Amino acid sequence: MSGSGPAPAEVPADRWTNPLRSAADRRLPLIAGPSGLVIFGVTGDLSRKKLMPAVYDLANRGLLPPGFSLIGFARREWQDEDFAQEVRDAVKEHARTPFRQEVWQQLAEGMRFIPGDFGDDDAFKRLRETVDELDAERGTSGNFAFYLSVPPKFFPQVVQQLKRHGMADAPEGSWRRAVIEKPFGHDLTSARELNQVVHEVFAPKEVFRIDHYLGKETVQNILALRFANQMYEPIWNRSYVDHVQITMAEDIGIGGRAGYYDGIGAARDVIQNHLLQLMALTAMEEPAAFDAESLLAEKLKVLRAVKLPADLSAHTVRAQYTAGWQGGEQAVGYLQEDGIDPRSKTDTYAAVKLEIDNRRWAGVPFYLRTGKRLGRRVTEIAIVFQRAPHSPFDSTATTELGANVLVVRVQPDEGMVIRFGSKVPGTSMEIRDVTMDFAYGESFTEESPEAYERLILDVLLGDANLFPRVEEVEESWRILDPVEAYWDTHGRPARYASGTWGPVEADDMLARDGRSWRRP
Ligand code: BG6
Repeated sequence: MSGSGPAPAEVPADRWTNPLRSAADRRLPLIAGPSGLVIFGVTGDLSRKKLMPAVYDLANRGLLPPGFSLIGFARREWQDEDFAQEVRDAVKEHARTPFRQEVWQQLAEGMRFIPGDFGDDDAFKRLRETVDELDAERGTSGNFAFYLSVPPKFFPQVVQQLKRHGMADAPEGSWRRAVIEKPFGHDLTSARELNQVVHEVFAPKEVFRIDHYLGKETVQNILALRFANQMYEPIWNRSYVDHVQITMAEDIGIGGRAGYYDGIGAARDVIQNHLLQLMALTAMEEPAAFDAESLLAEKLKVLRAVKLPADLSAHTVRAQYTAGWQGGEQAVGYLQEDGIDPRSKTDTYAAVKLEIDNRRWAGVPFYLRTGKRLGRRVTEIAIVFQRAPHSPFDSTATTELGANVLVVRVQPDEGMVIRFGSKVPGTSMEIRDVTMDFAYGESFTEESPEAYERLILDVLLGDANLFPRVEEVEESWRILDPVEAYWDTHGRPARYASGTWGPVEADDMLARDGRSWRRP
């Protein structure tokens, strides 16, 4: 098939703002220009469950160019056909959209597989030849993204090999991009080293770091909610907000990921990236424009203003799940999981109290918590407001009245809930909490794309809005490092039974401040 795709693939700088493009034009989904994707670590879990299905879903939605090409690179003795079969199985099992033979056929024609390990020069030579062949055969125009879905210890070798074999430098008029998956190091020092290695080969603008939470519709909606409306922003500050709770609870354990998870733990796995990004979006000022530079500038200001509490023993908690019941089934404890050192001190639950030292948020705690094997899977941001300063009602009328809360439900049941007091029907004046609910499923007919669909498309378009930049990654480690260092030198993690809402120490942490965690 010859590649006669749409025009070159740089995202128009005016994607959102050009007044000459009508609102309807701007709403049209952008289609990636001629391009290809090379995935290193293509036999891994992430690739099978998320990346390959996302590529298919994009193709199915007509968002990939006709000559799109996908190259898998891994240490397997596979032929192109074996690779295509693997992708097909992964797509059938995990894709969001229905399987259509004609879409599959077109995609499969552009699939190639390169067997080899990362030290193998011959394999990289073959990769280079394949990239050139695809350019000629399918019209990928020299535009390739290299997705490093591999442990960070291999980043240096892979990017160096790309450079050595002439694939990191874009031919005239085309682009080359590197996509890297977390963890971006395990502390500030290692993150800096990694960033340096990657930036020796790729310019900062060519590096796309994946934080898949930023690809979620509900997360992008935080900015829409705050900055496209008039009613929230005036109360979004220390004069009205008592505190903020950001929760990412999972009901699953570590599954087969012992090798990755042990030694990393909950705080490094998700607070350093997903939860600090949610916090930054919740707390940041309005960006000057909706573009990558302006978003970075505002998120960075928040992260730089984050302050840890002086007493880390009172205001941070880490814990490990023990055996218990989860969804009607018996679950083993973390230390009994396959591949886990029975003396491991790795946290599967982490909670921290943070403050943001600026005029908008001074004195408002942000409580972040995450855990595996908790009561249920839910991610939410809860803005808990101060109590009304005065109530004309008899105190007995309001005994069942809580504080006003605005909850952004990131997942599941994506939407937003506002809680406020309302009179209970009847002759007495009794006031109780009620909720007002916005659910995506009820307001929109379109289904939300998977985060990886959005992010892979944005890589191919060169749109960097939803990708954390090096400065944010380093700033996030600056926040977390002292907490990890404190935990390292202070005893063992607390414990909580699988299927519960975490350790009692976490409840105590909020109780000390006269507050309590929400039970979502
Ligand atoms: C990943 C973490 O970044 O996010 C996993 O490494 C976690 O430990 C996962 O399970 C959760 O993602 P989601 O999209 O299911 O909330």
